[in-house]
Amino acid sequence: MNLPRPRFHLAPARNWMNDPNGLVFVDDRWHAFFQYNPEGNDWGNMSWGHASSRDLLQWEEHPVALPHRPGEQIYSGSTVIDADGTLTAFYTSAYSHGIQAQSRATSVDGGETWIPDADNPVIDRGSSDFRDPKVVRLPHGGWLMLTVEAVERRVVFFTSDDLLSWRESGSFGPIGVDGVVWECPDLVHLPVEGRPGSRRWVLLLSTNPVGEDPDPAGSAMHYVVGDLIDGAFRADHDALVPLDHGRDLYAGVTFHDAPDGAAVMLAWMSNWRYAHVVPTSPWRGAMSIPRTLGLRDVGGELRLVQRPSVDLRDDRADAVEAPVTVEPHVLVDVRWDPAVTGSLRLTLEGEGDATVEIVHDPAAGTLSVSRDGTVARSLHPDFAGTRVAPLLDGRTGVLTAILDGPLLEIFADDGATVLSHLVTLGSGPVTASTHVPTGAGAPGVRLVVSDGVVQKGRAVPATV
Ligand code: FRU
Repeated sequence: MNLPRPRFHLAPARNWMNDPNGLVFVDDRWHAFFQYNPEGNDWGNMSWGHASSRDLLQWEEHPVALPHRPGEQIYSGSTVIDADGTLTAFYTSAYSHGIQAQSRATSVDGGETWIPDADNPVIDRGSSDFRDPKVVRLPHGGWLMLTVEAVERRVVFFTSDDLLSWRESGSFGPIGVDGVVWECPDLVHLPVEGRPGSRRWVLLLSTNPVGEDPDPAGSAMHYVVGDLIDGAFRADHDALVPLDHGRDLYAGVTFHDAPDGAAVMLAWMSNWRYAHVVPTSPWRGAMSIPRTLGLRDVGGELRLVQRPSVDLRDDRADAVEAPVTVEPHVLVDVRWDPAVTGSLRLTLEGEGDATVEIVHDPAAGTLSVSRDGTVARSLHPDFAGTRVAPLLDGRTGVLTAILDGPLLEIFADDGATVLSHLVTLGSGPVTASTHVPTGAGAPGVRLVVSDGVVQKGRAVPATV
């Protein structure tokens, strides 16, 4: 099977893609760079690919921005805009002699062409696992760079006034489980819902199991709420909280200079456990729907909320009777009253025996996603199966499912519970049905399908 290419998510026309890099909003365009192999659809020859978009839905691919060179691969990093409009990218030079160090490149044509610094690398600690520089502008001036010492599970911070000279200003970690490397940190200053003017710092972090017997769950994203004190992050609690309960969301980072200071995140929708065998050709790898991040106070705890930054709903779409057969590039909204139905199961059936089941269980307080079928089972031993997420509030019956070829993103709890998965439903029509314990048909369940994005080529402005 060759899974279809997404239509309103960023995916390269051909070749391998992993992490988003250097996300930046310049002159009304969203620029995304990404880990890219210009020579094939497996990981290797890492370079920065480049695409841009006006609406975060339709992406135009540009020539490779930062190509690998003999002895040097270009790993993940970030881009900022300085006062005179110059774009400065920071990335990891992964040298073939084993050292990873941070390098710099500048662009004066809005990101099309880049000139690496003659002085590269600009930060070198002699480490073999020092990577993923994310530079953020500090609220009171100056710049902060987050990097990881991946194996030590530490975020190492640097500050600078001019983006040229950097001073180490502290570190965070290790916390949480060992047997993982820490990758792709980001630091965002997020508004708290219902508390005008109130913002907290949130550290985003990706972890990937390594070693003899790595966790088969594979790679995943987490977050921690805290403060930024003297150029380093301090957590409120020493625990990494899952950012997304699905199997396939990794290396998420936010755009520099998004309108209104919004934190708009893109993440790679795959899992290092099986990324290399996902059956797509000639491309491999796609980004999530862009998500605007915020915080919500839930019983005294600040929880991360994520909502699509683009409006994919077709306001003219009416409720339909389930089962309904749709193209595999749609948004499905489900509304119901769990007090009446008890649990609710939404089933998506695709090509062959491919199925995805989403079960909302208010009694157990859980939302689960299962993927099954011959392709899912044969893809990789750890691919098929069920993921269970705790629900914040089982009494609210609202679920949004965004399906775009092999990408499925489920939003519940008004953005506080999200599960992102690769799915193997194929390129043919998908049948969506709903079931409640009293039988099929599910009275009182309102299903609205929006496929306008694809069919009408509708470009919806970002609601960030
Ligand atoms: C995360 C990562 C980064 C690294 C890049 C290499 O997925 O391992 O730590 O910079 O991918 O492609």
